[in-house]
Amino acid sequence: MTALSRRDLLCSGLALSASSLLARSAWARVATGLAGTADPGSAAALAAVAPREKLLFDFGWKFQFGHTSDPLRDLGFGNGQGDFAKTGEFAFSKAKFDDSKWRALNLPHDWAVELPFVHDEVQMSHGYKPVGRRYPETSVGWYRREFDVPASDLGKRISVEFDGAFRDVLIFVNGCFIGRNDHGYAPFRLDLTDFLEYGKKNYIVARVDASFGDGWFYEGAGIYRHVWLTKTDAVHLAQWETTVRTSLSSNAATLALGTVVENDGKQAENARVSWKIFDAAGKTVATAESGERSIAADGSANFTATARLTSPALWSVDTPNLYSAIVTVVAGGKARDAERVSFGVRTAVFDADKGFFLNGKPLKIQGTCNHHDHAGVGAAVPDRLQWFRLGVLRAMGSNAVRTSHNMPTPEWVEACDRMGMMMMCEARQMSSSPEGLAQLETMIKRYRNSPSIILWSIGNEEWQLQDSMAEEGAKIASTMVRRCHELDPTRVVSAAVNGDNEKGVSDPLDIIGFNYGLNRPDKYHKEHPKRPIYGSETASAVSTRGVYSTDKLRNTVSAYDVNNPGWGEQAEEWWKFYATRDWEAGGFAWTGFDYRGEPTPYGWPSVNSQFGIVDMCGFPKDSFFYYQSWWSSEPVLHLFPHWNFEGREGEEIPVWVHSNLDEVELLLNGKSLGSQKVPRLGHVEWKVKYQPGVIEARGTKGGKVVLTEKQETTGPTVAIRLSVNRTEIDADGEDVAIVTVDALDKAGRPVPTANNLIGFKVSGDGTLIGVGNGDPNCQESDKEPKRSLFNGLAQAIVQSSKNPGEIRIEVVKEGFDGPELTPAKLTIVTKKVHLRPAVD
Ligand code: GAL
Repeated sequence: MTALSRRDLLCSGLALSASSLLARSAWARVATGLAGTADPGSAAALAAVAPREKLLFDFGWKFQFGHTSDPLRDLGFGNGQGDFAKTGEFAFSKAKFDDSKWRALNLPHDWAVELPFVHDEVQMSHGYKPVGRRYPETSVGWYRREFDVPASDLGKRISVEFDGAFRDVLIFVNGCFIGRNDHGYAPFRLDLTDFLEYGKKNYIVARVDASFGDGWFYEGAGIYRHVWLTKTDAVHLAQWETTVRTSLSSNAATLALGTVVENDGKQAENARVSWKIFDAAGKTVATAESGERSIAADGSANFTATARLTSPALWSVDTPNLYSAIVTVVAGGKARDAERVSFGVRTAVFDADKGFFLNGKPLKIQGTCNHHDHAGVGAAVPDRLQWFRLGVLRAMGSNAVRTSHNMPTPEWVEACDRMGMMMMCEARQMSSSPEGLAQLETMIKRYRNSPSIILWSIGNEEWQLQDSMAEEGAKIASTMVRRCHELDPTRVVSAAVNGDNEKGVSDPLDIIGFNYGLNRPDKYHKEHPKRPIYGSETASAVSTRGVYSTDKLRNTVSAYDVNNPGWGEQAEEWWKFYATRDWEAGGFAWTGFDYRGEPTPYGWPSVNSQFGIVDMCGFPKDSFFYYQSWWSSEPVLHLFPHWNFEGREGEEIPVWVHSNLDEVELLLNGKSLGSQKVPRLGHVEWKVKYQPGVIEARGTKGGKVVLTEKQETTGPTVAIRLSVNRTEIDADGEDVAIVTVDALDKAGRPVPTANNLIGFKVSGDGTLIGVGNGDPNCQESDKEPKRSLFNGLAQAIVQSSKNPGEIRIEVVKEGFDGPELTPAKLTIVTKKVHLRPAVD
């Protein structure tokens, strides 16, 4: 995606498909919550300063499955045990290797989402996909790509950077083994300089083995994040060593600036570093310069300076003001390298008596935990879709996310920085082993300049380390906390603990996180009045979108806020608890979005969890509006269920309203069923004898009707409607439009129970990359051009090509017996943009 303009940001928040379900005010809030930034750090601007190139390496790969146990089906790899004997002998990463029969694809790519579901209980937590050691044919993926390196690159340092691949990766270039990475979420970089052929074609191969997993949830498989090729001078900035630490006093911010410069050249160099600070409009607001230092050949040196900002524009959830620093290394009279980091000026303080303060003002953390997969695309989530997901949460009034249980993508963090979403950033492995500390270090170095991150989490629910191995737990946690503080003295460190926090990992934590267990925090607070507390994980309430009676035979759970597993809490239950205690900083509900795997509360044929406040597509369930009522400052009125209960005439149906207004009156077919005062942090409900027609809620504030909402009995589906979150997207081969499909009756009303199977024909300058419907029990393919509606809704995600033009989407009748439907068509314009620099 090319640099996002302010207008683009405004549009990327939500598919207004969901708009019928979202209060208008929520949409307005998403829009105003996004701050535009001029981009003095764009690739072009940086290239003008110094010779650094960061090229997207996502396009034009070839892919083929290997095999976990049979070398002959794994490109001969491991056949005879001599593979690593000599450098340069890996034939599959040489020119002569024939990959013409391999599949062509672009990254990011998740092959797990493309596989069929298997009814194998061992695979339950990972969403019943055939990946793991017992599925040798679909657990290893080979990626191969040819690329040019111009002769003029000789003398530069050239590295390949993976933002993340799942999971154990071996990298080969031009016949040589280069390196490995054995973790599913941490980015890694490998220096290729000595292995490249300058002025010629080069070949890179990645063997990705997803046999082992990091989690108990769907994780995906393959190179599911971006890949980059970075070229710098021999004298260059070290990776993720640039820090901008801000401290605020009265009306000014002091910036402590630091970086590390490496000299991979053959002789010592005298270098100095300069910093130019820009505000959000791109205006230079401060400069600073370090002293000069000599850096030995193959050595490195630290550089520091300070700068001052008077009357800084603070970063906050409402005004996410960002600054950026361009850091330039000068040596031998020339600018040799430069990079941009963005940062914000803000204070984030946890107080044991009064909760959380952002910039000195009390603010409850209204957060959700989220995994990283989405309908249609699995773990390979395009950048814009990550923005979309955050936009949905933001529209609910949420101000924070927890990246459970692993480090996030750079795009997720950037979106939080720019949207004003706070973040608890969590490490995957709680361990002070060299591997555990390396993962932790990578996470902190990578993201420590991001103002959205208000705390680090060193792990989640390590029951051994909290209990039978409590002594080791305390030691491990204390080493990790120390390391966090060394790398980032500006933030507090916590962990998500499902216990009483009395022993083990909790000892060294700066602030105390409780997972569930509402009976624990009061006691803990009384006994430890000096330790700040928040809810690291709450709720785990379960519901199926658009379903209003639990049906164990169908694996569905009613969407009234009444269901939670033994360890969890309903939405209303946990939020009432946290909202009414000043010393509670707030909390993170499990989860914002439904996710694949962990199919709670049912197993097969459910393939995803039902914990989400929104479903796999981002369509809101009814509890979304509970949170919106109490998390946003806009008036909210949401009436449910729908009013299509044919055959249940005369039966009592619970009718609920989520609202933050004073009072709500309910009417059935024009007749008042009475008014009720809305209890603070609660909801109102009636029992209504069903008769077809209309139910209507009228919400009043100060005695005046402020909002009304109706649910009408609809007729059968006669037409399909398509709507899209953005009608114009970038022709960059990456951007996506999120299309909502719904069903209409003769009167043009959305049919909330429609389950028609819909086919898609996508033509023009883009492709369909995935479909979904939010049904936790749907085992239809995410990749085929068809999908059943689930309770009236489905989603299709289309991606642009690099040709400006248009993408045409047409809905076609897809082999079902129902009546002929009026088809729908939609056109999305793909506009020419400056492509971000990419490897040819
Ligand atoms: C928690 C755990 C989460 C998820 C959740 C389901 O204990 O931290 O990852 O499994 O339970 O309720």
